[in-house]
Amino acid sequence: MIAFQDVQKYYGDYHALRGITAEIRAGEFFSLLGPSGCGKTTLLRTIAGFEGISSGAVMIDGRNMAGVPANQRPTNMVFQSYAIFPHLTVAENVGFGLRKAGLSKAEMASRVGDALEMVGLKGFGDREAHALSGGQRQRVALARALILKPKVLLLDEPLSALDKKMREQMQVELIRLQRQVGITFILVTHDQEEALVMSDRIAVMFEGEIAQLADPETLYRRPNSRRVADFIGTMNFLPAQIIGESGDTVEVEAQGFGRLVLNAEQAPGGTSGEGAVVGFRPETLTILFEGQTASDRESMAVIEEVVYYGDMTYYDVKLAGSDAAIRISMRNVFGRPVLEIGDETRVAWSPGALVLFR
Ligand SMILES: Nc1ncnc2c1ncn2[C@@H]1O[C@H](COP(=O)(O)OP(=O)(O)OP(=O)(O)O)[C@@H](O)[C@H]1O
Ligand SMILES: [Mg+2]
Repeated sequence: MIAFQDVQKYYGDYHALRGITAEIRAGEFFSLLGPSGCGKTTLLRTIAGFEGISSGAVMIDGRNMAGVPANQRPTNMVFQSYAIFPHLTVAENVGFGLRKAGLSKAEMASRVGDALEMVGLKGFGDREAHALSGGQRQRVALARALILKPKVLLLDEPLSALDKKMREQMQVELIRLQRQVGITFILVTHDQEEALVMSDRIAVMFEGEIAQLADPETLYRRPNSRRVADFIGTMNFLPAQIIGESGDTVEVEAQGFGRLVLNAEQAPGGTSGEGAVVGFRPETLTILFEGQTASDRESMAVIEEVVYYGDMTYYDVKLAGSDAAIRISMRNVFGRPVLEIGDETRVAWSPGALVLFR
C-alpha cells in the first residue's frame, strides 16, 4: 500500500530521515515506534503530503506521490491534539470534510450516523463538541477522518493525551475498528507497549533510521540490536565471549550461564564485531521454590532486591559466577511466599531464550 524508497529528509543541515526503505501492506495495522525526535511524525507527514522529501520516493498504491498535494492523496490523518471545532456539534465536526461534497441532508446524516456508530458515539451527534471528554473528542476526530473513507488512516500519537485506563480501552477499540473497516492504519507512538498490543508490524526508529521492522513477537523475542532490545520491554544483559562458530551455531561463554551453543536465529544482529553480550527477558528465568525442579538448566542465585507488584514480583538477583544483577519477573501464586533480600535460591533457565548481541 505504501512504499518508502530510500527516503531522505533534510531540515536545513539537519538530517531528519536517513534512507527509509520499507513497505506497508494493505489492511495492515502498522506502527512507527521510537523515542522523541527520531522522525516518526516527519515520516508520517511524508505519507500525508504535509511534508516534502529531499530525495527518494513515497509510493501509495503503486503511484509516486511526488508533487501530489495532501488533499489528493488517499490518506487522512488524526492528530494528537484532536483539532476538533469546539463551537460545532459532534455531527457538524464529523461531517466537516463532506460539507462541500454536495450530499443531500439525509445522505449526510446517514454517513455521519454510520461514522459515529463506528466509534461508539451513536446518539452523540447533537452534543456540543466542547462538552466532550478527552476520549470522546478523540472518537470524534476518528469519525471525522473515517467518514472520508481514506485507504490509509494516519494516526499521530492519537491516545497520548488520555489517561491509562481510557488509553487501554481506546487501544482495543482502535484494533476493533481497524478490523471492521479493513483499511490500512499507520500509528505513530513512543509507547512500546501500545505498539506491541496494537500492531501487525512495527518499525522501530532511531535518529531518522529504521532499526528493525518486524511483527511484535519477533521484535520482542529476537531484537536485532541491544538498542532495540532495550527500547522494547526489559532486557537483561550479561557479558559473553564467542568461542567459535560453525554453520548454524555459535558457541559462547556467558557470565552466569557458562558454555552454551546458540543457533543462528538467536543472533539476529549477526556475530561479527567486538564485545558480545547475551540478552534475555525477565520472564524467561524462573525462581524454583521448594520441591520444584528445572525442566532445562538450573543455576544458583542470590536475591539482591525485591519489588512487589501484587500480581507480580520482580527479583533482582546475581547468578553464581556473575557480578551483574539481573531481573527475574515472577507471577505471584496464592499462598507461596515472596522471597527476601539475601535469600539463596535456585533459578531455572533455558539457552533457547537467550539472544546474542554484539
Ligand atoms: N519543521 C522543522 N524544521 C526543523 N526541524 C524539524 C522540523 N520538524 C521536525 N524537525 C526535527 O526533526 C526531528 C524529527 O522530528 P519528528 O517530529 O519527526 O520527531 P518524532 O519522532 O515525531 O518525535 P516526538 O515523539 O517527540 O513527536 C526532530 O529533531 C525535530 O526537531
Ligand atoms: Mg511526533
